[in-house]
Amino acid sequence: MSKESKFSERVLSGVQPTGGLHLGNYLGAIKNFVPLQQKFESLFCVVDLHAITVWQEPSELVSKKCEVAAAFIASGIDPKKSIIFNQSQVPEHTQLSWILNCVARIGWLNRMTQFKDKAGKNRENVSVGLYTYPVLMASDILIYKATHVPVGEDQKQHLELARDIVLKFNNDFKREVFPLPKPIIMDNAARIMSLRDGTKKMSKSDISEYSRIMLTDTDDEIAKKIKKAKTDAMPLPGTKKELENMPEALNLLTIYSACQDEEFDLVFDKYHGKNFSELKIDLIDVVINKISPIREEMSRLTTDKKYLREILDVGSSRAKKIAADVLKEVYEVTGLNSNI
Ligand code: ADP
Ligand code: TRP
Repeated sequence: MSKESKFSERVLSGVQPTGGLHLGNYLGAIKNFVPLQQKFESLFCVVDLHAITVWQEPSELVSKKCEVAAAFIASGIDPKKSIIFNQSQVPEHTQLSWILNCVARIGWLNRMTQFKDKAGKNRENVSVGLYTYPVLMASDILIYKATHVPVGEDQKQHLELARDIVLKFNNDFKREVFPLPKPIIMDNAARIMSLRDGTKKMSKSDISEYSRIMLTDTDDEIAKKIKKAKTDAMPLPGTKKELENMPEALNLLTIYSACQDEEFDLVFDKYHGKNFSELKIDLIDVVINKISPIREEMSRLTTDKKYLREILDVGSSRAKKIAADVLKEVYEVTGLNSNI
């Protein structure tokens, strides 16, 4: 670990600045990063190079990056403890990425389901970057020799690929350069579904704004969206078994439990058999209590550009110190060093 760290293990994760952040991003990802800072040397990265694998309007990209960095801090990631930075400001990520592109096999990338989903029928016409996206993600992790990577279910396959790259790299070059990064799969319970359809993930790409609560939503907007959230005609079920066929009920209870940090079963005990309207009234309070302080702090931070820039600058230079040493070692092992 870096000399400045008291920890023996290192966490790295990244969030793409591709759109406004919603409750799913917060409960499913960012919120879970916060406690890791106590146990690991932690790096949290705004992955702008991943974002540009699909078209991003340059002027909007800048503000989206600020929003993600502000959301990290407003959610409780402490810039004094953790390293918060922008991926593109540490060029070692892309330098390692090229080398790892030469280690990863085409067959491995062809199996990536996220690429298949994102490319869809348009496969011949998406960027090459979208295809090699998982290799850049492996570089993000390995350039810091990160030992643990907190990710959502949907990123598990990419992490498997990073592990395959480690095994092949260490084997090809006959040196244990990289540790095998372990996934920290974030609580499945915090998979937040659309407020309009409990079988679909809450996502920024959903056409209905009423499907998601944004971290920038006002209290009134939050209340309106929860009031309009889809429910069943029947009251909340009496047993947990019945919840399996009631995705909307399950989703609203999950959001309650995750925002309130209260065991799901306790929340279920409180509302089983009751009317949805009762749950919704309380849920509005619970979500507003959680989101409004984060929204206020994000708004303060995104207007204080000088402070935000300073955090990101300090973060990049701390990250770069670790990354440069690892890249040097990789150059030596692979014969790319300057000594001839
Ligand atoms: P989106 O689906 O809105 O495009 P991203 O794919 O950019 O979101 O996800 C960023 C992070 O947020 C990932 O770690 C992902 O696992 C998490 N995430 C996104 N949507 C949800 C959700 N509905 N529930 C839980 N976590 C989510
Ligand atoms: N691919 C991740 C996502 O879409 C973001 C990401 C990029 C990432 N690099 C990473 C996550 C490194 C963990 C570690 O959510």
